[in-house]
Amino acid sequence: SSSGSKEKEKTLAMIKPDGLLGNYTERIKDVIVDYGFSILREITTQLDQDSASRFYAEHSSKRFFPSLIKYMTSGPVLVMVLEKENAIADWRTLIGPTDAIRAMCGQDLEKNCVHGSDSRLSAQREISFFFEDVSSGERITTHDEL
Ligand code: TYD
Ligand code: MG
Repeated sequence: SSSGSKEKEKTLAMIKPDGLLGNYTERIKDVIVDYGFSILREITTQLDQDSASRFYAEHSSKRFFPSLIKYMTSGPVLVMVLEKENAIADWRTLIGPTDAIRAMCGQDLEKNCVHGSDSRLSAQREISFFFEDVSSGERITTHDEL
């Protein structure tokens, strides 16, 4: 349609192992809801070497990659599909270095507690990485599907 930025948009959010370990899940979800996001899907899962490497494929040649994969497979993650107007950019703003969520629970550059898709293309790829059908607005929670 022509309503542009008023369209609802979906993004992938992830609470990383340090976020779950630190019991930040409920506080992060409170921020998510306070900022007007709907949590459409939710899954708690353990990434293995292969799935973590595929998820972060764009960084496979970076120096920090082996350490990132080790960290991302060190414990369960909580993955969510968030929906609202301008969800992709707004979620990145919310988790970013100067804002609430990473400042609240991030430990350092690697253990930064949460993930957010960085573009429409990434959001599509990352949502379908974890979830099969997100066309309905119905809320579904699942566990350990990987
Ligand atoms: P990146 O996509 O650059 O950051 P973001 O998560 O903000 O999109 O990098 C992916 C993850 O890799 C990042 O969340 C943490 C880790 N990382 C490091 O461990 N060291 C680094 O120097 C960078 C840039 C990222
Ligand atoms: Mg990124």
